[in-house]
Amino acid sequence: MKIAIAGGTGTVGRHAVDVAREHGHEVVVLARARGVDLTTGAGLPEALRGVDAVIDVGNLASTSAKTATAFFTATTRNLVDAELAAGVGHHVALSIVGVDRAPYGYYAAKLAQEQLVESGRVPWTILRATQFHEFAEQLLHALTMGRIHLAPKARIRPVAAREVGERLVELAEGPPAGRARDLAGPGEEQLDDLVGRLVEATGIRGPVIPVALPMRPFRAMRRGEALPGPDAAIGRQTFDEWLADRTAAAAAADGGRVSGDAARPPA
Ligand SMILES: NC(=O)c1ccc[n+]([C@@H]2O[C@H](COP(=O)([O-])OP(=O)(O)OC[C@H]3O[C@@H](n4cnc5c(N)ncnc54)[C@H](OP(=O)(O)O)[C@@H]3O)[C@@H](O)[C@H]2O)c1
Repeated sequence: MKIAIAGGTGTVGRHAVDVAREHGHEVVVLARARGVDLTTGAGLPEALRGVDAVIDVGNLASTSAKTATAFFTATTRNLVDAELAAGVGHHVALSIVGVDRAPYGYYAAKLAQEQLVESGRVPWTILRATQFHEFAEQLLHALTMGRIHLAPKARIRPVAAREVGERLVELAEGPPAGRARDLAGPGEEQLDDLVGRLVEATGIRGPVIPVALPMRPFRAMRRGEALPGPDAAIGRQTFDEWLADRTAAAAAADGGRVSGDAARPPA
């Protein structure tokens, strides 16, 4: 198959690209770094030539409902229009468990994205996953002030981005399935505790201060609204296993410090 991966240079997109190649597929990466702008559609018609399925894991660094909704509606419309023109038969989108229970800020934008995919004319599959293990690291980057690390309190069930990438490729290989089973990690965790474990494992200095952030998405996460229901598929890798792998890789690369990945918003 020929699979295009929108956001294929990102946290989960890189894994989806690897998995698709391991499965023997031809892969096209849609990202600005590869000459395709999903917000304007520039480069899309050429990139989608001969593509059978598109996996959309594009993302932006904003928690504003207005900014994020503008991004996800523009990118989804441009993708679906270009897919129709190119004869692509399957659009696979990644969303987040609980966006309907807490449709605020960034989550409102994800809900708008889901609605556009569902009402679009390209046969579709939507997978909702819980927060990635990398979420703790993204928050650590975003909420470190000087040497103080603010760690939001929240109940989450983090999942390995690699396993989300695997599931997305499996879904793209099959027929359009509508709503796929949610995918969640193996165990519930406290987000502030994960940030603390990450700081300790990576040797970053400074205190970790648990905080109850007042924003509605975080209030909803404290109430457990980002947790999956009983029917969710459950991933294998725990946060501690991911952290051990991540720490070993970072130690080999640069002496154990957290990598310079860009700070990203709560997702
Ligand atoms: N993070 C989580 O915990 C989590 C959990 C569940 C679901 N999700 C969902 O997973 C998806 C991917 O998230 P992520 O954290 O993997 O994203 P990410 O690491 O921020 O990567 C974003 C990707 O989008 C591309 N991109 C951004 N703007 C673009 C544009 N205008 N045109 C083309 N490409 C563009 C980026 O490449 P360029 O910069 O080169 O353009 C990059 O490849 C999102 O839909 C998110 O809602 C995330």
